[in-house]
Amino acid sequence: KLDHDQLIIDAGQKQFGATTCSSCGMVYSADNPEDNFQHTQFHQQFLDSIRYVGWKKERVVAEFWDGKIILVLPDDPKYAVRKAEEVRRIADNELGFQQVTLSRPTQAKTFLFINTDRLVVGCLIAEPIRLAYRVLEQPDHKKDMTKDDFMERHRAWCCSTTPEQALCGISRIWVFSLARRQGIATRMLDTVRSTFMFGSYLSKDEIAFSDPTPDGKLFATKYCNT
Ligand code: ACO
Ligand code: ZN
Repeated sequence: KLDHDQLIIDAGQKQFGATTCSSCGMVYSADNPEDNFQHTQFHQQFLDSIRYVGWKKERVVAEFWDGKIILVLPDDPKYAVRKAEEVRRIADNELGFQQVTLSRPTQAKTFLFINTDRLVVGCLIAEPIRLAYRVLEQPDHKKDMTKDDFMERHRAWCCSTTPEQALCGISRIWVFSLARRQGIATRMLDTVRSTFMFGSYLSKDEIAFSDPTPDGKLFATKYCNT
């Protein structure tokens, strides 16, 4: 597996002859044969993964002058699910996630931002999360609680018959490096808030980011304070 980020870091440290490919965004040093080779390997596969051919049936949830957002659900046709997975793999690779399974794959909603060049330049995966996690993190959460106690409480909550408010967890958010700072992540999140639960617009504190990266924290802090 190619480590895109590491190459960026390495190239950044060298500074020497660092080039940014204007189509795939990889930073590499053109006068280093190994870098060149890795770029060649990465380039085509990356572009194939983010290319969007267009589907007969697509669920457009938002449209903009520079693109549109489509929603892919787990029961959609194979080609749609496959594309969503392909883009998720790219995002995971860049985030350094390895085979991280979604907490509730059957309920995951994948939002893809397609630009006017028919490239998937943004991907956001939202999953319903339950208040359960918050409850387990209350201050009375004892450090010496055994695993069995923990499971018991967890189970008790999960089996609760009282209606639990479903909140929205953002398990992945990724924007193509060459398309950042154009409000793509912001627009994807706004769209999630308006479409995630039928008939209601989620408030900012009903959304949670799971394990944010430094980029993710900067973005989330900005987003949640505006
Ligand atoms: N540094 C500082 N501020 C930032 C950054 C950053 N890297 N990224 C976003 N912001 C802030 C800015 O204030 C920005 O507004 P401005 O451009 O007018 O100053 C505001 O957030 C809105 O940013 P967007 O343009 O909407 O965000 P973008 O489309 O660039 O996407 C994202 C942000 C998704 C974090 C992108 O940088 C990315 O894909 N990074 C790599 C993957 C990653 O780390 N994803 C987050 C993982 S956490 C998770 O998945 C739960
Ligand atoms: Zn390239």
